[in-house]
Amino acid sequence: MLKIAVIIGSLRQGSYNLQLAHTLKERYINKIDLEITDIRSLPFFDQDIELNPPQSVKELLVKIKAADAVFIITPEYNWSVPGVLKNAIDWLSRVDKVLIDKPVLTMGVSPGMMGTIRAQLHLREILASPGIQAKLLPPAGNEIYISSAGLKFDETTSRLVDDSTLRFIDRVIEKFIEFAK
Ligand SMILES: Cc1cc2nc3c(=O)[nH]c(=O)nc-3n(C[C@H](O)[C@H](O)[C@H](O)COP(=O)(O)O)c2cc1C
Repeated sequence: MLKIAVIIGSLRQGSYNLQLAHTLKERYINKIDLEITDIRSLPFFDQDIELNPPQSVKELLVKIKAADAVFIITPEYNWSVPGVLKNAIDWLSRVDKVLIDKPVLTMGVSPGMMGTIRAQLHLREILASPGIQAKLLPPAGNEIYISSAGLKFDETTSRLVDDSTLRFIDRVIEKFIEFAK
């Protein structure tokens, strides 16, 4: 079974993006093995300590290296990626460069209408940079922008319940599994 490390771009306890990760973990339990990583404990990237980084960084590096693929599930902050996510990616882009050739799927949830489009466009540019060179699932037909989160997530269960969105994600996940094999 494909082992997938998940990076969430929000630290918020009630994060819709985290709720999406939990939804995927449960929905595809027989297809993929999702592990949600911790980026909250990472310090700010500091080139002076990159050769011997703190334990939290080492742990993230090991997890990403060991994973067959990575999901990045993120909100949009000020038309781009949240700083906490960029910081995590900066750590991952150095020394071992664990994202090179790693199959990556991006997705995002917003309460507004745009569904994180701008953040994910920036994210794709970042993921193409020399220290990263992730192997992105080609976006055409596979762009997961979830808008109007308040209407699509169940407040009680904290899970994505919108049927057409879930069926669309089902198709993208099937393609991603083939792509990442
Ligand atoms: C600092 C900040 C900047 C934001 N900028 C945007 C934005 O550019 N576009 C957008 O659609 N939503 C923006 N939002 C609203 C987020 O989409 C919303 O807070 C969302 O719920 C965050 O994701 P989460 O639920 O996973 O924490 C912003 C929120 C914050 C806190």
